[in-house]
Amino acid sequence: MTVTPTALRTGTAPQVLARCRALVRPALTRAVERLHPWVGEMAAYSFGWCETGGAPATHPGGKGIRQALAVLGAEAAGAPGQAGVEAAVAVELVHTFSLLHDDIMDGDATRRRRPTVWKAYGTGPAVLAGDALYALAVETLAATPAGPDALRLLSSALGDLVSGQADDLLFAARPWAGPERVRLEEYRTMAERKTGALLGCAAALGALFGGAPAETVGALERAGRHLGLAFQVVDDVLGIWGDPSVTGKPAHGDLRERKKTFPVLAALDAPGPEAGRLAAFLESAGTVDEAGARRAAALIDEAGGRTAALAEAGDHIASVERALADVPLAATAANELRVLLDHLVDRDV
Ligand code: IPE
Ligand code: IPE
Ligand code: MG
Ligand code: MG
Repeated sequence: MTVTPTALRTGTAPQVLARCRALVRPALTRAVERLHPWVGEMAAYSFGWCETGGAPATHPGGKGIRQALAVLGAEAAGAPGQAGVEAAVAVELVHTFSLLHDDIMDGDATRRRRPTVWKAYGTGPAVLAGDALYALAVETLAATPAGPDALRLLSSALGDLVSGQADDLLFAARPWAGPERVRLEEYRTMAERKTGALLGCAAALGALFGGAPAETVGALERAGRHLGLAFQVVDDVLGIWGDPSVTGKPAHGDLRERKKTFPVLAALDAPGPEAGRLAAFLESAGTVDEAGARRAAALIDEAGGRTAALAEAGDHIASVERALADVPLAATAANELRVLLDHLVDRDV
């Protein structure tokens, strides 16, 4: 018998994401087929499975991180990946629901390199499709043997996601400088809630469905929350310096919407004259147009905002590593989780 060393069996990040996507896709398709046909079409459009009007298509869709975390969570608990599929379906549905509503809240017209659902179908229909996806996620988890525990994890994550989104919206109205400015610690709480809670929930649900003890479920939840924070900080960086043809999202949307993202807050907190220049520019700019956003991006970079953001992401990845090291995990899944971490902070989409 030849024994393949663990490291050799570990997939690359694109391989891990593709493997998990293929494992989850049949159950996700079956779930979406249960929706009202029009609502199901909006969901399928968002997943990249069809055009508006329903003609089949294969657009790139999302990266599928949350479904991968659920599958790897089950595998890390020593179960086959299949054990995490319902968890994966539920978190991917909730994620899509949150994006449909988020794009309305943020007024963003592009996602996944296509018009957002509210742009393609209208705001009312997009709200409805989001609601339907949420209900479908609940139904999916409720039908599993671990239903009550799983629903507790999901509703707690959703409560956090709502709080995080609420703060994200409220922060936009706060000044850039002075005593009312948004502090980095407030940002961390907001980002952990709006993004980390669902990533933590994905990994924890997978572990729960894989039969892991409570300690392991808790460690994976913590790991996912830190990963979410790192992921959101990188999302903020891409929102300022990313290439919109690669990210599939609008350039400088966050700056135009006065979003208090990590690079801006870190730049404003930096010692030195650049921070003052940035604050003066942002305060005087009122509405930020494209030229203003480009100027702001340059000032943020000069004040060290991009470097500070990448360092922050690195710190949270170190916390993920510590959380993963706290409990015994199946070696291959743990390795694949680590491969995914590196990929998620070092991404351009
Ligand atoms: C976007 O999430 C929303 C954030 C939490 C930053 P993803 O970047 O995972 O979106 P998709 O699913 O790959 O499009
Ligand atoms: C998304 O936050 C978080 C949720 C959808 C809950 P953002 O608004 O920062 O994400 P993008 O950049 O639009 O994907
Ligand atoms: Mg948004
Ligand atoms: Mg948002």
